[in-house]
Amino acid sequence: MAISRFSYASMNVMDVAAAVRHYVHVVGLREIDRDERGRVYLQAADNQDHHCLILNPADSAGVDHLGFKVNDPADLDEAAAAVAAYGLPVTRVAAGSIRGQGDGVRFPLPSGQHMLLYFHAEKIGYVTGMENPSPVPPQGTPGGRVTHLDHTLIAAQSPQDDVNFLTQVLDFSLTEKVVDPAGNTLAAFLTCGHTMHDLAIGPGPDGHFHHMAFGMDSRTEVIHGVDLLKENAVPALEYGITRHGISGVTTIYFHDPSGNRNEFYNGAYLAPGAPGWVPPIVWQAEHFARGAFYYENAVPETFFAEVT
Ligand SMILES: [Fe+2]
Repeated sequence: MAISRFSYASMNVMDVAAAVRHYVHVVGLREIDRDERGRVYLQAADNQDHHCLILNPADSAGVDHLGFKVNDPADLDEAAAAVAAYGLPVTRVAAGSIRGQGDGVRFPLPSGQHMLLYFHAEKIGYVTGMENPSPVPPQGTPGGRVTHLDHTLIAAQSPQDDVNFLTQVLDFSLTEKVVDPAGNTLAAFLTCGHTMHDLAIGPGPDGHFHHMAFGMDSRTEVIHGVDLLKENAVPALEYGITRHGISGVTTIYFHDPSGNRNEFYNGAYLAPGAPGWVPPIVWQAEHFARGAFYYENAVPETFFAEVT
């Protein structure tokens, strides 16, 4: 099995126009495409694929599914068989039913959120083009200086069930985890490539979405992002700009107009790129607050209570 990376989030939003304004003029994505179902496709500056975000018109917020790319078309059949053998229902997704994307396999995680694996993505090129490009995006590009969609965190009543599935069936690696005194997993951070986490699992109700993080090149860009949030009156977490103990990054959280949580983020360490090469960092529950918010050493009540 060779899942290479977290590629896109397909998100439900109640007001598509407001969401597009947010993701273009605050987050800094570029609008790529729209389809007959009213879905809008967006991509960050430093990714050649068709989209890293799909906005779906819906009655309530939340995640429709999370897209992950595989390294070889044959991985799709292998994944479908392995997921079915684990006892989870697999659905085939036809090429073209999602714009700019080849066929895929879709299935729920044990916690209920859906993953979609696919190989082919239509190429749109980098924001600066593919021939003799400038090293920096054009001046006047709206929004934050986001380079890519980095990772996502979802909620689960039993995070360990997701960890078991992701590590045993899909060859993810655990890079960090938070455990209670009895050794039960409260939160887990998993990678399928070279980044510290592609997918994280936190405490909360099954089926729900906590946040997706947009990567930036430097802490300075995150500060610029905070200025943009204030300028656009986008509500942000009371902690911010701050730093996570887990992963060590500089971060700020905020919400899109439908309430889906976003993160601007910089500075994670690299993962070894092969499953099981290094043991995970372990955080005891009594240190979870420092792991979550290193400067404040406290977690706001709303942080895990508010999910979409
Ligand atoms: Fe994050």
